[in-house]
Amino acid sequence: MKMNKHHMFNFITTFMTLSSVACTVQPPAVNPGLFTVPKSIGACHSCKIFIESFTKGLERTARGKYEGGDAAWEEEKLKKSYKRSEMRLVDIQEGICKEETKYSVQCHLMAEKAEEYIEEWWSQNADESTDLYSYICIDKLEVCCPKHHYGKDCLPCAGNHENLCNGNGKCRGDGTRKGNGTCLCDEGYIGEECDQCAINYHISYKDDNKMLCSKCHMSCAGGCKGGTQRDCASCKPGFVFSVEDGCADINECDEANKCKDNEFCLNSLGSYACMKCDKSCKECYGDGPDMCKRCAKGYSKKGEFCVSDKGEDTNETLTSTRFMTYIGLLIATGILLPKSATLGSMVGFAVLSYIMGAEYYCMINGHTGLVNLTNYDLFQMFRI
Ligand SMILES: *[C@@H]1O[C@H](CO)[C@@H](O)[C@H](O)[C@H]1NC(C)=O
Ligand SMILES: *[C@@H]1O[C@H](CO)[C@@H](O)[C@H](O)[C@H]1NC(C)=O
Ligand SMILES: *[C@@H]1O[C@H](CO)[C@@H](O)[C@H](O)[C@H]1NC(C)=O
Repeated sequence: MKMNKHHMFNFITTFMTLSSVACTVQPPAVNPGLFTVPKSIGACHSCKIFIESFTKGLERTARGKYEGGDAAWEEEKLKKSYKRSEMRLVDIQEGICKEETKYSVQCHLMAEKAEEYIEEWWSQNADESTDLYSYICIDKLEVCCPKHHYGKDCLPCAGNHENLCNGNGKCRGDGTRKGNGTCLCDEGYIGEECDQCAINYHISYKDDNKMLCSKCHMSCAGGCKGGTQRDCASCKPGFVFSVEDGCADINECDEANKCKDNEFCLNSLGSYACMKCDKSCKECYGDGPDMCKRCAKGYSKKGEFCVSDKGEDTNETLTSTRFMTYIGLLIATGILLPKSATLGSMVGFAVLSYIMGAEYYCMINGHTGLVNLTNYDLFQMFRI
């Protein structure tokens, strides 16, 4: 059987694909944010994004289209005519919402709705210093309101506009045609004007025009008068009150028999957890094969550790899968071995390199190799 370059190539590609069989590797962690659909946004926000994009388009086309090449006087003339031309508007509209990645759909929808007003503004010898946001989003499309105004009729938010909701919240619907103008308080604040602390918050600062609330200590239940565990009105479950320490953590693990035989107890603030012992332990004090109280069946104590009676713990399924792959490769090499000695040695060398490579890859990725390659100086081997 003759082996040409094409076959050789196929052969090598097969090696590469097989490397995924050779040792199992964790798939890369996927960023969960990548697949979450972006939050929907209100019409006013969409309009703001559209106006920003349009303004960028104005800037992008401000320097005209006919730079360089033509004579200076001609360039000046063309620039002037381009500035007000239909062509420039088309250029802007072609690039609209292109730079917007997150809300591009909303931006395009708003661009469509705004098109007639934009064209009207453009044809009326547009003044580029116009506050386009107010003109389009507030006056024409009626999706936004001026700052500190809310709702269908853009009524002013109640209270002092310099210090809305005492600086601890915002007016519902501020700047949009939505909401009812009442205060939406930040976390930790309640009251119509956000001027009181919420449950489990305490006043941590107060002067004539500012009040700040901070969270109570995590051991508190039902409120507090300060930030420490001594200031609690009462203690959360898992904590016990004492005069000197206030609400102190209960160490549940001090109690005997909190967990099952093959588990150990782990105390945490306000709670505890039962964790599985290492598989070499029957009972244990903590995690790991060196924390056994008694060894599991098939394991016996060797110094600090419980070790398997069968000897080294090898991942047999993995190792044998890999071993089978290598055998398969060697057999394939034997069958496909071409008559030509040079090609034959090349294929043989490729197979060997592949096995070495796969083993090395497994090793540096922390898998148990068939051979422990750390014991060999790889580079010295290749130097021979
Ligand atoms: C204003 O709107 C909020 C949330 O939409 C609602 O909880 C509240 O009761 C409303 N207040 C008034 C006075 O309508
Ligand atoms: C061998 O490793 C694989 C994957 O790393 C794992 O799923 C399997 O449980 C392990 N087998 C043993 C006997 O430890
Ligand atoms: C490989 O050998 C080195 C040195 O002899 C040793 O430190 C390492 O733990 C061994 N690795 C494995 C997976 O057996």
